[in-house]
Amino acid sequence: MTEELYFPNEERFRDAAIKSMDEYHALMDKAKEDYEGFWGDLAKEKISWFKPFTKILNEENAPFYKWFEDGELNVAYQCVDRHLATRKNKAAIIFEGDNGDQKVLTYRELFYEVNKTANLFKNQFNIKKGDRVVLYMPMIPEAAISMLACAKIGAIHSVVFGGFSAEALRDRIIDAQAKLVVTADGAFRKGRPYMLKPVVDQALEEGCECVEAVCVVERNGEDIHWEAGRDYAYYELVKSQSSQCEPVAVEAEHPLFLLYTSGSTGKPKGVQHSSAGYILWAQLTMEWVFDIKENDTYWCTADVGWITGHTYIVYGPLAAGATTVMFEGVPTFPDAGRCWRMVEEYQINQFYTAPTAIRLLHKTGADEPGKYDLSSLRILGTVGEPIDPAAWKWYYEEVGGGRCSIVDTYWQTETGGHVISPLPGATPIKPGCATFPLPGIMAEVIEEDGTPTPAGEKGFACITKPWPSMIRNIWGDPDRFVKSYFGDCKKEGKPVYFTGDGAMIDADGYITITGRTDDVINVSGHRMGTAEVEAAIKKHENVAAVAVVGKPHDIKGEGIFAYVVLKNDEGVADELETMKEINTIIKSEIGAIALCDDMAFVPDLPKTRSGKIMRRILRSLVKGEKITQDTSTLEDPGIVTKIEEIIQCKC
Ligand code: PRX
Repeated sequence: MTEELYFPNEERFRDAAIKSMDEYHALMDKAKEDYEGFWGDLAKEKISWFKPFTKILNEENAPFYKWFEDGELNVAYQCVDRHLATRKNKAAIIFEGDNGDQKVLTYRELFYEVNKTANLFKNQFNIKKGDRVVLYMPMIPEAAISMLACAKIGAIHSVVFGGFSAEALRDRIIDAQAKLVVTADGAFRKGRPYMLKPVVDQALEEGCECVEAVCVVERNGEDIHWEAGRDYAYYELVKSQSSQCEPVAVEAEHPLFLLYTSGSTGKPKGVQHSSAGYILWAQLTMEWVFDIKENDTYWCTADVGWITGHTYIVYGPLAAGATTVMFEGVPTFPDAGRCWRMVEEYQINQFYTAPTAIRLLHKTGADEPGKYDLSSLRILGTVGEPIDPAAWKWYYEEVGGGRCSIVDTYWQTETGGHVISPLPGATPIKPGCATFPLPGIMAEVIEEDGTPTPAGEKGFACITKPWPSMIRNIWGDPDRFVKSYFGDCKKEGKPVYFTGDGAMIDADGYITITGRTDDVINVSGHRMGTAEVEAAIKKHENVAAVAVVGKPHDIKGEGIFAYVVLKNDEGVADELETMKEINTIIKSEIGAIALCDDMAFVPDLPKTRSGKIMRRILRSLVKGEKITQDTSTLEDPGIVTKIEEIIQCKC
């Protein structure tokens, strides 16, 4: 982080939703004085309620908080139907395929498609309110349409990222007890077809008796296996459905979706989000953080399989009545100018991506932005991991031409939407710093007992009051929900939400996120649990023990590094072969995103006498840091030097 301050461009942000730090402080003060009133007013103003709420926040069963609990709404109505009066011919979704094919869906067209799909789910697959539907989809409009179709009939979707393996998909289907899986034959990446349906076939081979049907969208036209009586062709069936569908009124707390994410221990957890609180914050942050205006074209490059895709490709932009771009391809294909060409062509006003992509585009095409007209850009967003000053500067100068605000948005799957972020028309920005909590979000840097961490020191990033878009539960595991998020930090004796991240506040109140304090690795802005990767590696028959840690990586931010103890080690050739085999297992157990970048074969792991692996030592060793921890409590203190030698040989 540098201390240079970057002020918003006054001319570009004259009409911003929040125009000055005074306006920001006024909102924050209002929230502090009358917390429920602050949220209640916003919820009344922003949501088209079917039945108005009378209660704002129910804390009786904390931390199972309830917001606006006696109100009723429908999220698909909020995102699509209600816009028809004023925006029926406005582009809702602009799709660009990997090979450059384009499709635009207006709000009216989206309304019809969502209705037909909702009717298909209801009539053909007997999907009812509360049923779970797993979506294993590529980045095509049908992914968004299926999500909204679920919302329209009160079904709970769980999108599984298309890069996850059959095993990972199976685990999620079983945990959610999904009745229907919606997928595609496959899609295109870097000019070539890739497949999804065979992964679904494999996932359903075992233990998925809950699944009654698979609905297959045709995208790449490749040959696929067809299971009669289970598999159904989407386009064939959807065309005969009615384009009218009554939205099902659901209670404010009705789960809108589950999204599985990694924790520090055990299997991925199904983060459960609500309907009203979630959509309120998705819409508000579009207005506050992305300053979305009626004629803007907004593009977030994430995948719908992650929370960023949920909140900032589908729900947020559509709730705000915006035009959202969906892109099937990758930023570097056919060349490193792809994104900038798209910015020019669609006149993109807000561009939102991850630091990993920025570093990659910087490295592979530093001069590319200069070849295009990027003057439409007003806001550049980043998400998922810390952004380093070099990437920030390039983004600001070369992509934004020094005219745009960079919003470094800090949030998580569990927070539903941004929680700490600059406001583009108000906040003087310090590069690499998420700056201040958004209005209404009581994010603080504290010690475990709730005392504020002194400026310049590392503390815990906590949110000390419940907020509407927060996680409601871990699907089927309320104990784990309480333990995972409300077990570490307290304020005034009451457990508060702990993000799992460390943070630092400076003398001016700016917050910088310093990274995870638990065993979660952040690979290219995606969360990977060490326990999951280790469980996969242990499936190799010659692995006796393993510990994985994050290792700094130029492009990905962090890569995965494994310390492996073999049962029988027969030398280097054996180790190289084992390394390949281990990665093959990881690919089939989790997916290519969890592949290890490197491994060290070590005689043992540093363990305490009670058998606990000292991961901090392993993290320090891989970074080449000096070991400052006390090693005298280790079962074998000499092991640290032995591992150090092996690591040094590798480097
Ligand atoms: O460690 C933080 C990091 O990403 C984690 C959340 O990951 P996930 O739930 O997959 O959601 C990613 C997209 C919202 C956080 O606990 N993180 C997210 N945004 C930032 C960040 N770290 C630093 N700066 C950010 N802006």
